[in-house]
Amino acid sequence: MRSGGPLGRAGLALLLMAAAASGEQPRPSVVLVACDSMSAHDAPMSLDGVRSCRKILDGRLTFYPGNQTVDLPFINFMKRHGTVFLNAYTNSPICCPSRAAMWSGLFTHLTESWNNFKGLDPNYTTWMDLMEKYGYHTQKYGKLDYTSGHHSVSNRVEAWTRDVDFLLRQEGRPMVKLTGDRKRVRVMEKDWQNTDKAVHWIKEEAINLTQPFVLYLGLNLPHPYPSPYMGENFGSSTFLTSPYWLEKVAYEAIKIPKWSSLSEMHPVDYYSSYTKNCTGEFTKQEVRNIRAFYYAMCAETDAMLGEIISALRDTGLLKKTIVIFTADHGELAMEHRQFYKMSMYEGSSHVPLLVMGPGVEEQQQVPNVVSLVDIYPTMLDIARIPVPQNLSGYSLIPLLREKAENEVSPRGPRPSWVLSEFHGCNVNSSTYMLRTGKWKYITYSDGHSVLPQLFDLSADPDELTNVAIKFPVIVHSLDKKLRSVVNYPKVSSSVQEYNKRQFISWKQSLGQNYSNVIANLRWHQDWLKEPKKYENAIDKWLRQRV
Ligand SMILES: *[C@@H]1O[C@H](CO)[C@@H](O)[C@H](O)[C@H]1NC(C)=O
Ligand SMILES: *[C@@H]1O[C@H](CO)[C@@H](O)[C@H](O)[C@H]1NC(C)=O
Ligand SMILES: *[C@@H]1O[C@H](CO)[C@@H](O)[C@H](O)[C@H]1NC(C)=O
Ligand SMILES: *[C@@H]1O[C@H](CO)[C@@H](O)[C@H](O)[C@H]1NC(C)=O
Ligand SMILES: *[C@@H]1O[C@H](CO)[C@@H](O)[C@H](O)[C@H]1NC(C)=O
Ligand SMILES: *[C@@H]1O[C@H](CO)[C@@H](O)[C@H](O)[C@H]1NC(C)=O
Ligand SMILES: *[C@@H]1O[C@H](CO)[C@@H](O)[C@H](O)[C@H]1NC(C)=O
Repeated sequence: MRSGGPLGRAGLALLLMAAAASGEQPRPSVVLVACDSMSAHDAPMSLDGVRSCRKILDGRLTFYPGNQTVDLPFINFMKRHGTVFLNAYTNSPICCPSRAAMWSGLFTHLTESWNNFKGLDPNYTTWMDLMEKYGYHTQKYGKLDYTSGHHSVSNRVEAWTRDVDFLLRQEGRPMVKLTGDRKRVRVMEKDWQNTDKAVHWIKEEAINLTQPFVLYLGLNLPHPYPSPYMGENFGSSTFLTSPYWLEKVAYEAIKIPKWSSLSEMHPVDYYSSYTKNCTGEFTKQEVRNIRAFYYAMCAETDAMLGEIISALRDTGLLKKTIVIFTADHGELAMEHRQFYKMSMYEGSSHVPLLVMGPGVEEQQQVPNVVSLVDIYPTMLDIARIPVPQNLSGYSLIPLLREKAENEVSPRGPRPSWVLSEFHGCNVNSSTYMLRTGKWKYITYSDGHSVLPQLFDLSADPDELTNVAIKFPVIVHSLDKKLRSVVNYPKVSSSVQEYNKRQFISWKQSLGQNYSNVIANLRWHQDWLKEPKKYENAIDKWLRQRV
């Protein structure tokens, strides 16, 4: 992966010649609207690099039939005029690793995108680079955030020290905030500015292009906003909207998620909930409010998508443009006693994926499991660039066609499973999810030291009953399948080694200042109660062998 992408240089030259020689009909343009992450310097509202990592809505919101919770007119427009994927997943439920998978077409463990600090090498050849080489005009607005190097020190240290035997709250308590009045449409200003730029570009530039184009728009919403009252060293736990958007939410339709009791929680979930400051008491009204504000933020996101679709329609470009809408991951919005993502539960790992445009079947719902690594080969397929054999993803085009073709690619048929994995902060073990049929299998670390989970999504859509013990044969076969895709115990231990190495070199770089710096990271409220104890826990971890 360090060698700059899946296509060798010689191969590329050959393919270019082949493409030029075939005088086929014009290739469609593509617009991809996706959530995006903003680094600390770019996000005006962000006080903290990490949590400015943004996401769009949980995929389930986009397809539940007759869902009256919130009106999403443009997502519904895409459903009517295109295809919706009912089971689309992120390959890693956090911004940087998720986007690394989307832009590289490779699973997280192949690019070693372990956390928000460690994504793709900046020189990696993305699908957009290839499309440009093959004659597409390319344009992007909003931050991409798939490479290494960004995000706050707190976020890095939290990820590196997740194996340390301590439990510290790292987040402000999730809460809501109403801003502006009933006329306030533009709440997330930065996203609107990027949307305006993209609309302007469509109307002034794209309209005059003689070659096809690919436009990318990365949005921040509906990621929660920073909690400024908590001071600089806290994350983004404020769900913020205006009365204009909140009025679009049907409060009475909001479902309050069931929670397991604290003692029944899976130990890794407990760690997540605790570090996210969600193990305290929450009233139903508080939870309902958080969810309502979250849905209102989704409605604002939908309106931005609407601006793009309208601009394409007004310029006559819509009929020759494939529009794709997706997200890097979801938002738990208090499901399973958590907010944010980082989890394999549906709210976090399930993403929206809708596609419309020339050749795409209208009003189609595709049940196949798909994931964000599929974006790379899909883009190449749209641009008629031969798809390399060694990508993790498969083109979505055969699933989108008006007349579903039984085309078997040289790589054989698309597998019936998807893989998601997580190696970052707020989860104290590497996590792997295999989703296939009605099953979701989640396993951790070396596969032995932490209890696995198995959910039957058809019988238990809320994922409250772990049936791993009840179905050992299923667990065995899913685990075997998973191990044929990734040697996960080995990956887990290489992440542990990486975390320790990174931590040691960070510690050394601080010299005498170490105690002071580590005490004042985002966990400082808890840390400062017993600084010696926590430092000792770290020392003990550093002495242990992985
Ligand atoms: C890309 O950058 C990495 C360092 O980040 C380097 O090791 C590698 O050789 C570079 N690859 C190419 C193709 O330039
Ligand atoms: C994929 O294959 C190409 C050429 O066959 C090679 O250059 C590239 O390094 C491979 N990529 C990966 C991730 O294996
Ligand atoms: C949408 O409706 C379904 C039932 O049709 C419900 O289970 C789900 O919770 C609703 N979604 C939201 C986001 O409220
Ligand atoms: C956690 O939430 C409580 C309120 O429930 C708040 O007082 C505290 O400051 C929060 N802790 C952190 C680390 O943000
Ligand atoms: C695009 O074309 C229109 C007329 O079709 C023209 O008015 C406009 O200036 C052109 N824009 C650019 C950026 O060339
Ligand atoms: C994760 O943290 C929880 C809560 O402290 C603990 O019970 C569990 O043993 C930890 N798991 C691992 C794998 O460290
Ligand atoms: C430690 O902190 C002091 C004062 O903030 C600073 O001048 C010095 O460069 C720091 N040392 C290291 C090794 O970071």
